[in-house]
Amino acid sequence: MRIDIITLLPRLLDSPFSHSILKRAQEKGLVEVVVHDLRDYAVNRKKQLDDYAYGGGAGMVMMIEPIDRILTELKSQRDYAEVIYMTPDGVTLNQQLANELSLKGNLIILCGHYKGVDERVREHFITKEISIGDYVLSGGELAASVLSDSIIRLIPGVLSDETSALTDSFQDNLLAPPVYTRPADYKGMKVPEILLSGHEKKIEEWRYEQSLERTKTRRPDLLDES
Ligand code: ADE
Repeated sequence: MRIDIITLLPRLLDSPFSHSILKRAQEKGLVEVVVHDLRDYAVNRKKQLDDYAYGGGAGMVMMIEPIDRILTELKSQRDYAEVIYMTPDGVTLNQQLANELSLKGNLIILCGHYKGVDERVREHFITKEISIGDYVLSGGELAASVLSDSIIRLIPGVLSDETSALTDSFQDNLLAPPVYTRPADYKGMKVPEILLSGHEKKIEEWRYEQSLERTKTRRPDLLDES
């Protein structure tokens, strides 16, 4: 899978993709992440990328032409399954959407800024609009990193223990059970006995009950959905 991210602030995306799991996934050749500076596609000598909104009002609007230019170039080089626009008024990202996107081909992610993009970009070029939650960020870059992370960790081979993505919270609409590590007794705070028993079947049952209990108390809405 290849993910092309289009942004006005490419440096903002340096860090999320240069560490840990996302870095290793790229080194192993399981995903290719390419960040593009939209400024390289600006239309005039002033390198202009945004302009005043027709009809007036505060805030600048990202122009259609630079975006059309880069999308045309990318699409002439390879096929893309989706052209995604990060925006607070898109569909809210959840595990199911991440699962679906991880199974698709190449993706383009466009990060918005200012008052957003000219609506004609959304109408004619964008195939999916995604929000990472009901709050407004300064731009789409952090949202694009969150989306990419949620997708990339699901690609087979990215996580060393292949089953670990399957036991994440939200897979099967259940929150993950609590986990513990050594020491078994820290200043009188004890690890549940059952986890020390070595009884695999009972441990699995305990984990399932804990997941269910946690979901009932913290996120009952998830149980209504399944
Ligand atoms: N851009 C600004 N806020 C956002 C959000 N909540 N989700 C996705 N993109 C955004």
